[in-house]
Amino acid sequence: MSAKLGVGVIGVGILGSRHARVYQEQDATQLVAIADSDQKKSDELGAKLNVRAYADHRAMIAALGPKGSGEMGAVTVSTPDFAHFEIVRDCLEGGLDAFVEKPLTMDVGEASSLVSLASKNSGVLVVNYSQRWLPEHRHVEDLLRSSSLGSIAFIESHRWDAAWVPQKMIGWGPKTTPIHFMSSHDIDLITYWLDDKVDSVQAMAHKGILSASLGNPEIVDGIIAILRFRKGTVVSLHSSWILPSGFPLAADSYLEVLGETGSLFLTGSGRELRLYKNDWAEKMTYSGPATANEVQGRLEGAFVKSLLSFVDASRKRDFHVPTSAGRTIHVVEVQDAIIRAAQTASIVHLKG
Ligand SMILES: NC(=O)c1ccc[n+]([C@@H]2O[C@H](COP(=O)([O-])OP(=O)(O)OC[C@H]3O[C@@H](n4cnc5c(N)ncnc54)[C@H](O)[C@@H]3O)[C@@H](O)[C@H]2O)c1
Repeated sequence: MSAKLGVGVIGVGILGSRHARVYQEQDATQLVAIADSDQKKSDELGAKLNVRAYADHRAMIAALGPKGSGEMGAVTVSTPDFAHFEIVRDCLEGGLDAFVEKPLTMDVGEASSLVSLASKNSGVLVVNYSQRWLPEHRHVEDLLRSSSLGSIAFIESHRWDAAWVPQKMIGWGPKTTPIHFMSSHDIDLITYWLDDKVDSVQAMAHKGILSASLGNPEIVDGIIAILRFRKGTVVSLHSSWILPSGFPLAADSYLEVLGETGSLFLTGSGRELRLYKNDWAEKMTYSGPATANEVQGRLEGAFVKSLLSFVDASRKRDFHVPTSAGRTIHVVEVQDAIIRAAQTASIVHLKG
């Protein structure tokens, strides 16, 4: 078997610790080091995982990257949404491949400069759009990409988080938006499934509930956006994070696709897909690992498959995998257009 890929993780909060765990559990990778600007967090996790720990990611890259000892060839970047750009840039400039949590960045110019930098430095830059690997999403992908539902008229996608997510779970809620924190996956899935781009966007935000509880006027409770795709599909996206504490989950979602010759309805946590055609109807429930579930002591599911696809791309020097930054930059453009549409109460047209 070929040597393991040496990897590091920058930003070891909720998601970064999961990346670190999976890198340690997989045969193809060796976790070499972690970095977190919170020195205590970095030291504690480094000691627990028995790997080197840094507070400054630049020191880690210089010491262990290709321009240092060469033990590390790739990294995960899982810092908060607004803090991806400079770190990914430092990784690519240090000769590393990077697997970055969604959203790639919160700014179109920054996203585009990272795509150019990856190309210039021959770096593999992939976004963790793990939801593409959920089996129920694979099924929807097959149905849409094979035109089994005919031309698609409408898609409605709901994503809800509990209010305690921006209030308590992450400390940086006001510095992101539900469209970036939650709906990155939906925008990615829908653009990928339809193999189409968004032409124009309308959006409205609601404010007041979280801003009162967090004492920050910037944070929105949620955004509803309507997207017109170039081939005609109309997509309605609901993205909000105000579910009460009594809701039994951190998050849930719902998807509906209405086509010329068929329609489907998919519940997120219930994992029930109902499919209706003119001469056919079926209902399926998915019960295997979802995003990341422990099976016989190690994590399995869509997250692990997504991470391994990055490892494979890094090994094969495949710069253009379907979740590469270059092939998914449109998601950032759509997110930017939604925020601008909500702020200006106008229709935003995306460039052709
Ligand atoms: N793929 C998914 O389904 C999914 C799910 C949830 C979150 N995420 C994304 O993962 C990322 C991390 O989210 P999280 O929930 O783990 O957040 P978190 O707040 O739990 O962790 C972020 C960590 O980054 C560290 N950090 C901040 N700035 C840093 C810097 N400059 N250098 C090094 N470390 C720094 C913080 O100290 C913290 O430990 C976000 O972009 C988020 O949107 C992805």
